Amino acid sequence: MAWAKYFLFFTIISLISNPSSCAEEGLGAIVQIGIGGTSIVGTNYINNVNSLLSVLISESSAGFFNASAGDDSGRAYGWFLCRGDLSAERCDNCLHRVRDFIVRQPISNYHPNAIVSSSNLECVIRYANSSTALVYRRNTTHTVQGFGDRLSQHRQYNTTLLFTMQDVVRLISSGILTNPYFFTTEVGVTGTSDRIFMLSQCTPDISRMNCSDCLHDLYTTFPPTSMGGNILGSNCLLTYNNEPFFGNGYHKFIPSYLHLILVLLLAMYFTFV
Ligand SMILES: *[C@@H]1O[C@H](CO)[C@@H](O)[C@H](O)[C@H]1NC(C)=O
Ligand SMILES: *[C@@H]1O[C@H](CO)[C@@H](O)[C@H](O)[C@H]1NC(C)=O
Ligand SMILES: *[C@@H]1O[C@H](CO)[C@@H](O)[C@H](O)[C@H]1NC(C)=O
Ligand SMILES: *[C@@H]1O[C@H](CO)[C@@H](O)[C@H](O)[C@H]1NC(C)=O
Ligand SMILES: *[C@@H]1O[C@H](CO)[C@@H](O)[C@H](O)[C@H]1NC(C)=O
Repeated sequence: MAWAKYFLFFTIISLISNPSSCAEEGLGAIVQIGIGGTSIVGTNYINNVNSLLSVLISESSAGFFNASAGDDSGRAYGWFLCRGDLSAERCDNCLHRVRDFIVRQPISNYHPNAIVSSSNLECVIRYANSSTALVYRRNTTHTVQGFGDRLSQHRQYNTTLLFTMQDVVRLISSGILTNPYFFTTEVGVTGTSDRIFMLSQCTPDISRMNCSDCLHDLYTTFPPTSMGGNILGSNCLLTYNNEPFFGNGYHKFIPSYLHLILVLLLAMYFTFV
């Protein structure tokens, strides 16, 4: 994996508490973040979370699934999201690893409300003790991981990276994408031989505008510091690198910066004419 080549500069910043993680050989770490503070959870809730995980995994081929499990006391709510370019098998494997991480942790590590993912953001599982905890809100970015060279040594790359993030957000809000919820692009960095590969994804339960805002909040909360990065929010994620990392997913869209600009011009045309 390309990952291994990098010096991993790893920061987990959470709005709140106790990130815990574990590395599995060759597969990247699993990261769990408790949202909204910790408190002791009952065994009834833990059992319901574990049942919920089984339900989610049984639907792994759906790419996203929202469910709840258990009786009214301690009912668990949650969903999973797999990166849109993954095969059903890879999604299923990733979800199993995340599930195993959750169910094997000590009971005291369970949170009432948590987001758990593989560190490369191939899959994400969210669980909570109420359905309202899962409602989309602004500015809920949970983790950022940066890797590769520092951007301070690559000014042109940094500039293009920020422009590309802004373009992706504009393109999604413009309404012209058939699928605004999963988007990949590849752009060249002017004056260098570098290329930037970027992937954005939102949970399909939020509106297109919420998706665009959600992605915007990711890079404004954690401005990029390295050539590669993974940023995770409650309802969206953004990953980028100077090497290709996404597959020929079912929604792979534009391969060039020029094309991106043309699409944006087209979007402006439709917006203003
Ligand atoms: C969910 O957990 C929070 C603590 O994070 C607690 O304050 C709240 O009462 C719990 N809600 C339910 C429905 O159990
Ligand atoms: C989400 O989008 C809907 C419709 O576009 C909007 O009414 C709502 O205010 C948005 N929510 C947030 C938190 O931005
Ligand atoms: C999100 O956070 C940024 C930076 O702290 C702030 O400027 C912005 O107003 C916040 N947005 C919302 C909708 O709370
Ligand atoms: C990247 O560029 C932005 C905008 O010019 C700047 O604010 C930021 O400090 C730069 N980041 C780094 C790491 O140099
Ligand atoms: C997810 O499930 C919760 C409760 O189980 C429900 O309130 C919510 O509307 C569902 N969201 C979607 C997108 O299906």
